[in-house]
Amino acid sequence: MTTASGTPMTTIEEFRCRAKELLSPEGWSFYDDASGRRTTYNDSISAFDRYVIRPRILRDVTHRLLSTTVLGQPISMPICVAPAEAQRFAHPSAEAESAKGAAEADTMYILSCLSNASIAEVSQAAPNGLRWMQLYLFTDLRISEHMVKEAEKQGFKAIVLTVDLPLWGDYSFYKSSHATSSSTSRYYGDPSLRPANLRLDIPKVREAIRSGDVNLRRYMATNYESPKTWDDIKWLKSITSLPIVLKGILTGEAAREAADAGVSGIIVSAHGGRQMDGVPAPLDVLPEVVSAVKGRGVEVYMDGGVRSGTDVLKALGLGARAVLIGRPALWGLACDGANGVKKVLSILRYELDSALGISGCTNVQDIPSSLIARKSYL
Ligand SMILES: Cc1cc2nc3c(=O)[nH]c(=O)nc-3n(C[C@H](O)[C@H](O)[C@H](O)COP(=O)(O)O)c2cc1C
Repeated sequence: MTTASGTPMTTIEEFRCRAKELLSPEGWSFYDDASGRRTTYNDSISAFDRYVIRPRILRDVTHRLLSTTVLGQPISMPICVAPAEAQRFAHPSAEAESAKGAAEADTMYILSCLSNASIAEVSQAAPNGLRWMQLYLFTDLRISEHMVKEAEKQGFKAIVLTVDLPLWGDYSFYKSSHATSSSTSRYYGDPSLRPANLRLDIPKVREAIRSGDVNLRRYMATNYESPKTWDDIKWLKSITSLPIVLKGILTGEAAREAADAGVSGIIVSAHGGRQMDGVPAPLDVLPEVVSAVKGRGVEVYMDGGVRSGTDVLKALGLGARAVLIGRPALWGLACDGANGVKKVLSILRYELDSALGISGCTNVQDIPSSLIARKSYL
């Protein structure tokens, strides 16, 4: 895996630059897109610079432990892969390939319910990998139910319900395509880029696909834009015994409601800055969420802007059990398929290991909160 000039790639930034060269312009713009003025997207990355690591000194850090668990399942490090749709832009085998890369890195993979590869294809590609299934609650709940049942059958270990999408986000990609029917029309016009898991025997979906690509886009937006409430979490719990994780929580209040609703985990996330511009950087609200559910038996993870091992260490110190990476995994996939995803994860692993030792810590499950401070302490 080399840069255009043939130098081996050793940083996430090199993967980003190379992916930009290798992806089609549509693929790059879809992956890089963020809503509004990209304030939340940019802030999610720069938030990590607002925190510093306060190293402990003269400790024996010879043996360091990066392995941990998520909902009781072992993983080799607290860095997992976030759900992202439309991975065929990056690789012909799409999510099946990235799930394979995550499994080879011995970490957890979350499959987007809008994936190009089917749930079965992904589990065949990574039969021994820990996989969670991301879900939206579609207006026609039979579609969601079908996906849950299929995920259960294929050995997925949790349902990740994304709750930050009551309305369709203000992406420039979609805005321009709504206006011109260009990119999105191409996106859904190419059958290989269509979501594989929509249950095609449901007449509305079949009808939408038959009647044209832009209508499918509109059909899906209509389905997202149905108000769902805490009652629907009760419904979800009634149809599955898998643990439920809510993704897209950014306040202590919502975290408490989630704990009251009996969820097993929370992902503090701003959807990679793609949903609403102006919401906080996930890292900034992580401590508020962690303290809101303290003692309630709910695991808290975060995503958004994680680009280095020190970023991971900061998130762990602020209370995350694990972090997820979205775009960096897509960059790895675009550069070299499963190997690229594995390489991106191994760079972060190496950097985390080094940051852990240099800061005087030996176990990712035991990072003292005093290790991290907001810069203003200086
Ligand atoms: C191209 C792309 C597609 C995404 N698709 C989904 C999705 O289908 N479901 C979902 O819950 N989140 C989706 N996300 C959000 C990611 O799961 C994650 O929250 C975000 O990418 C994390 O930020 P990062 O890209 O800075 O790591 C997507 C993100 C990107 C970049």
